Amino acid sequence: MHKRIILTAAVIVMLGSTTAAPAKGRLTDSEIEKNISELIGKMTLEEKIGQLNQLSGYGYSPSMTAQIREGKAGSILNEVDPAVVNRLQKVAVDSTRLHIPIIFARDVIHGFKTIYPIPLGQGATWNEELVREGAAVAADEASSVGIRWTFSPMLDVSRDARWGRMAESFGEDPLLISRLGAAMVKGYQGDDLTRPNTMAACAKHFAAYGAAEGGRDYNTTWIPNELLEDVYLPPFKAAADAGAATFMCSFNDINGTPSSANTHLNRDILRDRWGYDGMLVSDWGSIGELVPHGVAADKEEAAILGVKAGVDMDMEGHVYLPNLMRLIEEGKVTEQEIDRLTANVLRLKYRLGLFDNPYVDENTAERFYTDHALESARHTAEEAAVLLKNNGILPIDKTKVRKIVIIGPMADAAHDQNGTWCFDLEKTHTVTLLNAMQEKYGAENIMYVPGLAYSRDKDSSGFEAAIEAAKAGDLVIYACGEEAVLSGEAHSRADLSLPGAQTALMEALAATGKPIVAVVMAGRPLTIGHESEMADAVLYNFHPGTMGGPAIASLLSGDAVPSGKLPVSFPKMSGQTPIYYSHKNTGRPASGMTLIDDVPLEAGQTSTGCTSFYLDAGDGPLYPFGYGLSYTTFEYGTPTLSSTEMGTDGDITVSCDVTNTGRMEGKEVVQLYVRDLVGTLARPVKELKDFSKISLKPGETKTVTFTLPASALAYCFHDGVTRVEPGDFQLWVAGSSDSGTPVKFAVK
Ligand code: GLC
Repeated sequence: MHKRIILTAAVIVMLGSTTAAPAKGRLTDSEIEKNISELIGKMTLEEKIGQLNQLSGYGYSPSMTAQIREGKAGSILNEVDPAVVNRLQKVAVDSTRLHIPIIFARDVIHGFKTIYPIPLGQGATWNEELVREGAAVAADEASSVGIRWTFSPMLDVSRDARWGRMAESFGEDPLLISRLGAAMVKGYQGDDLTRPNTMAACAKHFAAYGAAEGGRDYNTTWIPNELLEDVYLPPFKAAADAGAATFMCSFNDINGTPSSANTHLNRDILRDRWGYDGMLVSDWGSIGELVPHGVAADKEEAAILGVKAGVDMDMEGHVYLPNLMRLIEEGKVTEQEIDRLTANVLRLKYRLGLFDNPYVDENTAERFYTDHALESARHTAEEAAVLLKNNGILPIDKTKVRKIVIIGPMADAAHDQNGTWCFDLEKTHTVTLLNAMQEKYGAENIMYVPGLAYSRDKDSSGFEAAIEAAKAGDLVIYACGEEAVLSGEAHSRADLSLPGAQTALMEALAATGKPIVAVVMAGRPLTIGHESEMADAVLYNFHPGTMGGPAIASLLSGDAVPSGKLPVSFPKMSGQTPIYYSHKNTGRPASGMTLIDDVPLEAGQTSTGCTSFYLDAGDGPLYPFGYGLSYTTFEYGTPTLSSTEMGTDGDITVSCDVTNTGRMEGKEVVQLYVRDLVGTLARPVKELKDFSKISLKPGETKTVTFTLPASALAYCFHDGVTRVEPGDFQLWVAGSSDSGTPVKFAVK
């Protein structure tokens, strides 16, 4: 049975440019611009500056209402009580001279109340529709309390697992991030941003925040322009093309220029090259942080730099409000510059329909945990799980396994199962792995002994009970990983091993000789080589969220089949980071490695091979990008090309038969990689250029066809120009970045 699937690589549909007539009542772009111009014409300078100020609000306080009444708040973040939102909004609409509404914002990063897998987990789904749907659910839940702007998607390319914020990213690859980020934008914004159950998206953190030196959050980055253009910018361009209503500056400096003062980034690229007309907000206090960065002597100078760099809104920085009026009087900032920033803020409010519909409907507030939301979150968690190892112990064979012993600090972790950035989490709604396994197998067939109270716990006093339970059972499910607080903002780790005494506990369990399935829940890749050896199977979940328990239970039981693929490379040792698949080949690619334990005493200096590897870690990852097992197996045919050559403005189609050669239906992420064999600049050994997730019944074959345009092979040269360079290439169609048979083609 053959089905043909036609896909086009590297083409992001420009949803923002749709020519469809606006929905009834929705202003046209020209009507919005007319309204902005008329309103700005009426505004005083103080009123304009007030719109550029974002305050964090908790409650209906006299100080907050006073600031609103005085026109000093264009936006408020962190207020999530719909009644308070409406009361504050009423002050803005009724008590200010021009009745300009406030936009209420919140970090809704992977769900509001129904928590989805952290974005790194959503990255493992390689499923744009699931990501879009999850964002739409998040928008529906958050907007029901009055939140109309979220600070998501986070589009930072993340290649260093020491960096805690990798958890919020879609991983290491620009194309995967671009496709999933665009899907998230569409999910939040829908096709009509004036609809009250939508939210403005925010492409963050612009840009290259994930390149923090040493993986230490907020640290400096050194990014050659070629790398910025080829790797760090594309996901943001995709978000802009998908119509992201806002962008957010990153905290870091790029080559010495912090993003909140970066006119090249925010004006030359974002505004002039991309023609972006959305709103750019600072990160929390990031304009004021130009002072500790050492590029501004004081807050006044920071305000000037922020305005010159086109940062429209000052998030909790208290820099614009107190300084801009004086700076304009001193001629250091012009009113025209302020008008430009103000226009971007007002445009967002018009696009959201806030002037016509500023209030949240309190009668429909709190649309949380619907059946649809919970099922969507469960499905996403299911597809986000990555089966890294399986010696056949999974799915659980009910005829052989009667007593299941669940051990470990993540088994019943109602809070930590949700991961980082869950400001509105209600952990009583979390269905933990333990809950779900008891539900699926009957509590009488499940023994539970935590062994450790939490992931960092070093107290081994619980080991004995865990060991005894393991001995009494048929199968051990070892639920380990990281508490939520160990990843996310400001939570970098220099050691990527399992925290606490988790490894020691697993060693004690392994000593019983009982089969062990390791279920990991973490905010990043962990160096679990030793644990993988001890386990009969490893199912990796980047903090799976509210419905993570049922999703994992379905996978362990075989009611569902794993389909996740890694969105990041797993290092064998922390010292390997940053590690990523699309690395350069170097002049001495790893070969003939002599590893540390095999080096003879007094070995000669050059005897261990002079190529690029670590004596104590070899080369390559523990598990590669794009890798993930199923309960079935897939066989790839040799890719066939419509032509073995194309012009620099041409394209070729690439077709490959994929067959399910196992006994269970399964989903496979078919990945298209390319290598430019010889370039003016050294090129990566592989780059993802397209992917498609397909479902195959046992024995079924599908022909997957990609369209590969030469434009997808372009890269940035030292002259700053991105161009397609003729030459010889190889391509692979495979189920992982480390497999497949290369096929040659050329660009003429
Ligand atoms: C934080 C984060 C940013 C977040 C913002 C508002 O510091 O860097 O991602 O959206 O502040 O909470």
